[in-house]
Amino acid sequence: MRIAYIPPMYSYVTVTDTEPQLARTNAIKLHGPEGFAGMRAAGKLAASILDALDDIIKPGITTGAIDDIVREMTLAGGAYPATLNYRGFTHSCCTSINHVVCHGIPGEKKLVEGDIVNVDVTPVLDGWHGDTNRTWGVGNVPIKARKLIEVTLECLEAGIAAAKPGAHLGNIGAAIQRHAEKHRYGVVRDFCGHGVGRLFHDAPEVVHAARAGTGPELKPGMFFTIEPMINIGRADVKLLDDGWTAVTRDRSLSAQFEHSIGITETGCEVFTASLRG
Ligand code: MF3
Ligand code: CO
Ligand code: CO
Repeated sequence: MRIAYIPPMYSYVTVTDTEPQLARTNAIKLHGPEGFAGMRAAGKLAASILDALDDIIKPGITTGAIDDIVREMTLAGGAYPATLNYRGFTHSCCTSINHVVCHGIPGEKKLVEGDIVNVDVTPVLDGWHGDTNRTWGVGNVPIKARKLIEVTLECLEAGIAAAKPGAHLGNIGAAIQRHAEKHRYGVVRDFCGHGVGRLFHDAPEVVHAARAGTGPELKPGMFFTIEPMINIGRADVKLLDDGWTAVTRDRSLSAQFEHSIGITETGCEVFTASLRG
């Protein structure tokens, strides 16, 4: 999600999850058991779609063919792709290759051995959004790119480890930034994670570079994504003329991993965890 210029003042609101929550406000929703059950099901479907892509992502396949598979699997799972006709986006997933940071548009482009590619899916199941992405190496990938993928996944894991009640939202970004910068990578600032649930993009904004102890306190029932975009080079991005595709300004490689999570009494539940492990 594109970041807001001024950080919002957040409040909290307890929701019942039995009625649709439509308006986006700066209130952070605190969900109950129905919400957890809904997100668990949507997240499981989302994870199964990404799991299936393990065997699909190979040199020669087009990003458009990946999009077709994602759409068919989403519909077969009884869900609808949240990105399809979302603010003018006309595909069922985002496919971001090499120096594309996020929101790459599927099309005729073929994957080539040595590429890295991120696929970001969001099936909406019974109104709940399972938002998740992973980055794959295509065939044999240079060690530098493999290292970026590995450290980016570790960044997501570090963010998840910091997500527990009583901690602050900034602890997540601090953990991610610390790990990325240890490897001299750039943490993208222009896009952030976001509240998720019955809305695709809700409060709060989950920034991936922050100070520990800042931001709203994490409370049980909060649902949000963590989705760090990490660049081998500088953090700066620019938007291409298509209005969607974000690329690194220095054309360095960029990787991303995303999970949708819910804060529990003791830590967090990862709704979009791989079923394969
Ligand atoms: N799934 C992306 C996210 O993680 C959003 C994609 S919006 C699109 O928030 F329109 F670009 F598809
Ligand atoms: Co997201
Ligand atoms: Co996503």
